[in-house]
Amino acid sequence: MPILQYLCLTHFKSYESASFDFSDTLNCIVGENGKGKTNLLDAVYYLCMTRSAFQHNDSLCIQHHQSGFTLFGRFRKQKECYEVGVSFQNGKKKILKCNQKEYEKLSEHIGKFPCVLICPYDYYLVQGGNEERRKFFDSIICQTNVVYMQNLLRYNQLLRQRNALLAHFLETNTFDEDRILPYDSWLVPLSETIMQHRKDFIQHFNLYFQEAYAFLTDKKEDVELHYQADVTIPFQKIFQQNLSADRQAGRTLKGIHKDEYAFICNGFSLKKFGSQGQQKSFIIALKLAEFAFIYHQNRDKPILLLDDIFDKLDEHRIRKLLQLIEQGTFGQVFIADASPKRTKALFAQGQAVGNFIYL
Ligand SMILES: Nc1ncnc2c1ncn2[C@@H]1O[C@H](COP(=O)(O)OP(=O)(O)O)[C@@H](O)[C@H]1O
Ligand SMILES: [Mg+2]
Repeated sequence: MPILQYLCLTHFKSYESASFDFSDTLNCIVGENGKGKTNLLDAVYYLCMTRSAFQHNDSLCIQHHQSGFTLFGRFRKQKECYEVGVSFQNGKKKILKCNQKEYEKLSEHIGKFPCVLICPYDYYLVQGGNEERRKFFDSIICQTNVVYMQNLLRYNQLLRQRNALLAHFLETNTFDEDRILPYDSWLVPLSETIMQHRKDFIQHFNLYFQEAYAFLTDKKEDVELHYQADVTIPFQKIFQQNLSADRQAGRTLKGIHKDEYAFICNGFSLKKFGSQGQQKSFIIALKLAEFAFIYHQNRDKPILLLDDIFDKLDEHRIRKLLQLIEQGTFGQVFIADASPKRTKALFAQGQAVGNFIYL
C-alpha cells in the first residue's frame, strides 16, 4: 500500500519552506487554528491527486507574494520508492514528475497513490448540485479504472469542442450541421460506455456504502445511492432531438454530463428531508465506502486524511472512526486536530500513535 514517507513544501499556501517525515501508520498533526494543518493535508492530497482538495485555482495555492510553489514527496509502495514532484509557476503549465520523469498528462498519475479525505464540511456533497456528486463518484471510479478515466476525459474534451462550436454558431448566427454531426457519432458510444459503467459502479458501491452507514449509526435506517441517468433513450436520438434546443442555448443540454446521483434515506431524499445527523453520517459513510471500494478494487489501501473530525463530529461518530483506526482497518493515516491533549487522550488505550507533528 502507498506510504508517504517524506514531504517537502515550498511557498505552498501558508508554508514558506518546510519538510516532514511521516510514520507508516498514524500521523497526528496538531497545532492551533490557522497554523497550517489543513494546508499540510492538502499538500498530501495534491501529491496524490494532482490538485488541491480545496482550491480549484492553482494560483491560490501559491504563498502570498510568491510566484510559484513546489511540493516534493517520497512515496513507498510495494517496497519501491517513488519521488513525486509538483511545481507550479504563475501563468505557466503545472509540471508533475515521478522519479524525475515528467508526465505528459496529469491523469497518468491518478490512481497510483489513491487517497481519501474526510472533512466534516463536505456538505456540498448533499447540498450542492448534481455536478458535485458526479465529480465525487467520477473521482472514485477514475482512481480505480484507467479506461473509465480515459473515456471520461475524451468525452469532456469532445463535449467542450461541441459546445464551443454551438456557441460560435449562436454568436455568428450561422449553422452548419455537418460540423456538429461528427461530434454526435463520437459522443454516442462514449456516453453508452460511461453510463453503463456508472450503473455497474453504483450497484457495487452501494454495498460498501450501506455497510459503512450501518456501522456508523448502529441503526437500521434504509439508505441508498441512486444513479439517475439524465438520458433514458438512445443517445443518438437525444442528440438529434435536442439539436435545435442546443443551438438556442449554445451548448449541449442533455447527456451523461448531467447525470445525477440521488441520496435516499428511508425512502426519501436526504437533501430535502434528512436531519443534520443523517446528513453527517451519510457523508462520512460515503467517504468510508470510498476507502473500502478503492481498497478492494486496487487491493491497496488508500492514504487516509482526516481533517478536524474531533472538533466537528459528535462523540459517537468519533468513537466509530477511532474504532476503525484502532482495528487497523486503514493504512497510513493523517489526522489534523487543534488539541494535542485531546488527540493523545483519544488514543491513550488504543493503537500507539506513530508520529506527532506539532505545527
Ligand atoms: N496562498 C496562501 N498564502 C499564504 N497563506 C495562506 C494561503 N492560503 C491560506 N493561507 C493561510 O493559511 C492559514 C490557514 O491554514 P490552515 O491549514 O487552514 O490552518 P488550520 O491549522 O486551522 O487547519 C490561514 O492563516 C491562511 O491565511
Ligand atoms: Mg484546518
